Amino acid sequence: MLKVDNLHQAYGGSHILRGLSFELQKGEVTTLLGRNGVGKTTLLKSLMGLVKTKEGSVTFDGRPITHLPPHERVKAGIGYVPQGREIFPRLTVEENLLMGLATKPGGTKIPERIFEMFPVLRQMLHRRGGDLSGGQQQQLAIGRALAMGPSLLILDEPTEGIQPSIIKDIERAIRLLAQTGEMAILLVEQYYDFAESLADQYLLMERGEFIMHGRGETMPQDGVREALAV
Ligand SMILES: Nc1ncnc2c1ncn2[C@@H]1O[C@H](COP(=O)(O)OP(=O)(O)OP(=O)(O)O)[C@@H](O)[C@H]1O
Ligand SMILES: [Mg+2]
Repeated sequence: MLKVDNLHQAYGGSHILRGLSFELQKGEVTTLLGRNGVGKTTLLKSLMGLVKTKEGSVTFDGRPITHLPPHERVKAGIGYVPQGREIFPRLTVEENLLMGLATKPGGTKIPERIFEMFPVLRQMLHRRGGDLSGGQQQQLAIGRALAMGPSLLILDEPTEGIQPSIIKDIERAIRLLAQTGEMAILLVEQYYDFAESLADQYLLMERGEFIMHGRGETMPQDGVREALAV
């Protein structure tokens, strides 16, 4: 589904990502763990084409996308839920979801599945995004990314600053999406329990390199929690 080979990235002179290689499979959740500032968001931004790749290649669905601009990647089927949600606070919930359809032909409807997954979005359809709670905004950001039916969904720390009841809803939604087998999911997380419960595969990053990786079920014996806490 997605194949990354020897990816390097730098901001000016500072080398952030140092030769990352990995693959994502359809129907699987891959969790990327790592402490603050190790380069997790930078990796997601390079997958979206928001920062330039210095070296290496990214292949999506068999097609090289290393130098495609962000909107072309969205069109190709990559959905992105950025860190901090970045919904449009002055637009209504409905308008935010319609923004997620921007790459689709006019008149395309918001998929019903989004409201089944997050019923609160239907209840709040005409409220302004900025009036929603943090957790509701996160659900909205996920809904917006799902609107165009991505085959790869990328989420950057969806549990950050969110109340536990909504974390459970988001966990259930991510699991359901993976189980449909229609998409690959790449989840950046610092909340270990959430990451472990969802991971089919994990990657642990430190200073722009993967220092551990493996199957989700081996996370406890691999000592991932301890490695994150060091
Ligand atoms: N636009 C930028 N220009 C220069 N340096 C940057 C920029 N964005 C991030 N950095 C630096 O790159 C490094 C990696 O940042 P990044 O945001 O990818 O980390 P992160 O793992 O997502 O951290 P967090 O868990 O806090 O979100 C950090 O040292 C950060 O200060
Ligand atoms: Mg980040």
